[in-house]
Amino acid sequence: MASHLTSRRLVLSRSAALIGAASTGLLLPEIARAQGAKVRVGLMLPYTGTFAQLGVAIENGVRMAIAEQGGKLGGREIDWFKVDDESDPSKGVENASKLVQRDKVDVLIGTVHSGVQMGIQKVARDSGVLTLIPNAGVHAATRALCAPNVFRTSFSNGQPTMALGKAMVDRGHKKAVWITWKYAAGDEAFEGFKESYTKAGGTIVKELGLPFPNVEFQALLTEIAALKPDAVACFFAGGGAAKFIRDYAAAGLKGKIPLYGSGFLTEGVLEAAGPAADGILTTLHYSDSLDTPRNKAFRLAYAKSFKQQPDVYAMQGYDTGLLLAQGANAVKGDLANKAALYKAMESATIDSPRGKWTMSRAHNPVQDIYLRQVEKGENKVIGVAAKALADPGTGCRMAAAA
Ligand code: PHB
Repeated sequence: MASHLTSRRLVLSRSAALIGAASTGLLLPEIARAQGAKVRVGLMLPYTGTFAQLGVAIENGVRMAIAEQGGKLGGREIDWFKVDDESDPSKGVENASKLVQRDKVDVLIGTVHSGVQMGIQKVARDSGVLTLIPNAGVHAATRALCAPNVFRTSFSNGQPTMALGKAMVDRGHKKAVWITWKYAAGDEAFEGFKESYTKAGGTIVKELGLPFPNVEFQALLTEIAALKPDAVACFFAGGGAAKFIRDYAAAGLKGKIPLYGSGFLTEGVLEAAGPAADGILTTLHYSDSLDTPRNKAFRLAYAKSFKQQPDVYAMQGYDTGLLLAQGANAVKGDLANKAALYKAMESATIDSPRGKWTMSRAHNPVQDIYLRQVEKGENKVIGVAAKALADPGTGCRMAAAA
């Protein structure tokens, strides 16, 4: 009885204190505690394999954007968690679950590879954890399998190549061979290329492919030489892209059959590819040489921090950090206020090094696509190939997309 009275008295005095706090405008203890706790941010990226340097560039970019916020999200400190996804789709669900179930992250940032992204998408949809995609362009993530808690800050696989076909036909290249790794990213990049190239009057004479991440290009390059198309268009990225560019030149095709690509072909690989990359024309939502104060400041700060030049992946990581910070700031760190958080992220305009962009209703960037050419080890912008290009978001049904 006595203890009952004591505990009752405690409860009463505690609620009196709460009322006092509320009336003086102080935060209620529960909310103060939730906001004071660290935000748990999980990075699921490739740190080994052909996409390893893409993962590092993305992480650098994310950390740089957060550092500009004093290392905090909406005023809260951050606990970081990391998983190397190895660009292995068979471990996608397991790796994403490690971050969500074991590490109990509030935010999952990942990943690069479209196949692995499908695993993340499943875990994101099942758990409802806020998920930001800093690269992988797999269409389903912002089409049929879109979700209110999933936001992409990069591109959809068909976006860069939707701007490629016309640029090729404009240069008189009407018969093309397409070559890629045979997986979602390559196949969906082909969708964009096929639509834009045939619409502009071009003919695709052959589609060539090899499994990801194989780099035995020789037989395919021999076939291209025999086919004698006006041009070659492709999707490759990371270490494999550097090798493809070098092998293309070594096979004697450079200077004979112009090489075009989804712009990832020449991102982060120009040093490794050397002069073999000179002259390659690509389309992408970024270019090193964008002559804006925003891009110049970003490039300078990144080079200072990481002692290397940023590429599209670093920029996408940076924009992921910007979007997350913008959302977290809008809810003053209360990430549990999902309605307000998602609304802020959906309506954000990101002041990016690529140029300002907004979110489509299916949560994919609406952005300009640039035509670029490799010149002296740099991707030089030579024009805007598509203005404010949006992915169609076909099949996306969610409240936010209604
Ligand atoms: C993808 O798998 O979606 C992917 C990977 C690397 C890129 C672009 C897309 O550079």
